[in-house]
Amino acid sequence: MLLPLSLLPFAASALAQAADIQIPIALSTLAVIPLLGYGTWNLDRSNASEAVSLALRAGYRHIDGAAAYRNEDLVGKGIADGLAKVGLSREDVWITSKLWNDHHAPDMVARGLEKTLSDLNLTYLDLYHMHWPVASSSSGNKISYVDTWKAMIALLQTGKVRHIGVCNFDPEQLQTLLNSTTHPPSVHQMELHPYLPQTEWLAFHKAHGIHVTAYSPLAGTNPTYSPGEPPQLLNNTAVLKIAKDRGCTAAQVALAWGISRGTSVIPKSSHADRIEENFATRECELEDGDYKTLEKLGEKYLHRYNNPSGAWGIPLYQGLEDA
Ligand SMILES: NC(=O)c1ccc[n+]([C@@H]2O[C@H](COP(=O)([O-])OP(=O)(O)OC[C@H]3O[C@@H](n4cnc5c(N)ncnc54)[C@H](OP(=O)(O)O)[C@@H]3O)[C@@H](O)[C@H]2O)c1
Ligand SMILES: *[C@@H]1O[C@H](CO)[C@@H](O)[C@H](O)[C@H]1NC(C)=O
Ligand SMILES: *[C@@H]1O[C@H](CO)[C@@H](O)[C@H](O)[C@H]1NC(C)=O
Ligand SMILES: *[C@@H]1O[C@H](CO)[C@@H](O)[C@H](O)[C@H]1NC(C)=O
Ligand SMILES: *[C@@H]1O[C@H](CO)[C@@H](O)[C@H](O)[C@H]1NC(C)=O
Repeated sequence: MLLPLSLLPFAASALAQAADIQIPIALSTLAVIPLLGYGTWNLDRSNASEAVSLALRAGYRHIDGAAAYRNEDLVGKGIADGLAKVGLSREDVWITSKLWNDHHAPDMVARGLEKTLSDLNLTYLDLYHMHWPVASSSSGNKISYVDTWKAMIALLQTGKVRHIGVCNFDPEQLQTLLNSTTHPPSVHQMELHPYLPQTEWLAFHKAHGIHVTAYSPLAGTNPTYSPGEPPQLLNNTAVLKIAKDRGCTAAQVALAWGISRGTSVIPKSSHADRIEENFATRECELEDGDYKTLEKLGEKYLHRYNNPSGAWGIPLYQGLEDA
């Protein structure tokens, strides 16, 4: 059995939101986020376009980028090349980007989007995230993410953004946002993998109809994260045993776990073989006992890799399970 690549509940809320604001959505445009996406942070600059193009040729229909990755021009070239080679059009793929912290001032939000669209050479995004609930000082660090969010809602009316979302919010921040807006985020992107399952936090989103995207789905594999403890997820003997038993690779076990929870996963790789391996996760089927094993690993090694709280001198992730 192949894993489903998309989930329907999200479509319903996406369409309801679109109806509220009277935006015609072409029937060919994706209304549902594909669960297997491709990440673009830290792509090798020498062949980033080729890697993105390869991802589309391998079957990915969801690309995750951000202004902060400083490679949206290269990603855009790869999208154009990949679409041409596969014979698809813009409407057949889901493209996500993110507003950086230095563009939180309400009058800067539309400019952040314009720069991203111009770099990608696209006329619209399927999803635009607020990258962090944090305005950097160059944007005036007194700016509330509620005000930034209001400016993001206004983008929907331009047709240049189909859905809006947030990343890296903690429960109080998300509740504050929900309390002060009639347009809740369609998607929340956060760090999630077997070492950071955040099961209750995920359930909160399900209850509120907010889709969740799992970033760094391969845990500490991203080399910008501090190595050492806990041991690499992809090198963990229990994960390797599950992989062997199910005829999968360790990376596919991690990704299949994420997809099984209804989250979209966005693994990044600069290598053709891994780009294909990760997409082939659709053929990796886990069994009940495997989920129990992975749950125990999460309890043992609970770890968050992406936490700029110290570097930015600002509290983050308050009240979450690793706090
Ligand atoms: N919203 C946010 O704040 C936020 C934060 C972090 C990430 N993200 C997004 O999430 C995406 C994914 O997260 P990530 O890039 O941090 O980490 P990741 O995708 O979990 O891991 C990427 C690392 O794993 C390696 N890798 C990929 N596939 C592999 C495989 N099958 N076997 C072994 N190693 C493999 C890659 O190496 P090679 O490239 O050398 O193959 C790379 O070093 C990002 O690219 C970005 O789009 C968003
Ligand atoms: C990109 O370049 C790196 C470094 O030379 C190489 O290892 C990798 O296979 C290349 N990837 C693609 C998609 O060409
Ligand atoms: C941007 O995309 C258009 C087609 O939509 C294409 O004609 C044009 O050449 C592209 N520009 C760049 C700089 O790639
Ligand atoms: C959100 O609103 C509810 C109901 O008014 C209130 O009980 C709660 O304290 C609010 N939460 C935040 C974080 O503002
Ligand atoms: C993987 O595990 C083996 C032993 O089980 C160890 O020797 C090796 O250094 C580990 N590699 C990584 C990348 O953690």
